[in-house]
Amino acid sequence: MILSERIETRRLILERPKPTFELAQEIYTYVQLSLNNLQPWLPWANSMDSVEGEFAYLLNWCNKHWEERTGFPFIIRDKDIKRFLGVIDVIRIDEKNKIGEIGYWLQNNAMGQGYMREAVLAVEKQCFMAGLNRIEIRNDTRNEASANVARGAGYHLDGVLRQDKWSEYDKKFVDSNVWSKLKEEK
Ligand SMILES: CC(C)(COP(=O)(O)OP(=O)(O)OC[C@H]1O[C@@H](n2cnc3c(N)ncnc32)[C@H](O)[C@@H]1OP(=O)(O)O)[C@@H](O)C(=O)NCCC(=O)NCCS
Repeated sequence: MILSERIETRRLILERPKPTFELAQEIYTYVQLSLNNLQPWLPWANSMDSVEGEFAYLLNWCNKHWEERTGFPFIIRDKDIKRFLGVIDVIRIDEKNKIGEIGYWLQNNAMGQGYMREAVLAVEKQCFMAGLNRIEIRNDTRNEASANVARGAGYHLDGVLRQDKWSEYDKKFVDSNVWSKLKEEK
């Protein structure tokens, strides 16, 4: 499966990240600004402590996945002023069963404006066009903001995986919601 490297929505531009030091610096700045909201839910936010680490993420994770077509991360920007808003990615692609999972985060100043719902709807459209039949969103059952995005974008709550994740942040096993949307429901 392959996705378009640039997707436009009404208010947003989603684009394949270029592995540059400039972008690494930009993402690093916004990660630091947003740490309080990221750390409880995203394990990587507890160890992303340098621009070099961010550059390694761009090169060894984002670029590698795009090249190998095993994952599709996008930088989300405001269409007008190109401000960095966050990241959305399609990961854990199961080519045989035509399943993919969407993950996301917004920088603190971009929350509460419906940007992520808009980005999810645009990315899922591309995924269904590219052949996926089922798209999942998974989140910690305590992460209400993330659950709102899934619910608001029309995803069905399939169920709860009990204690399927170890949270280093909370030092305990935590439960995950599994949400899904099917191609026939788009
Ligand atoms: C999860 C996360 C992306 C959700 O961000 P968000 O801003 O709440 O989500 P959206 O961009 O879809 O915006 C929805 C909110 O904008 C409001 N909104 C304002 N204008 C809107 C519009 N035009 N359209 C839709 N919603 C709009 C909605 O009312 C909603 O707010 P509410 O939940 O208070 O009712 C964000 O909280 C985050 O990055 N959290 C930390 C990382 C994380 O948890 N990632 C997910 C791991 S599974």
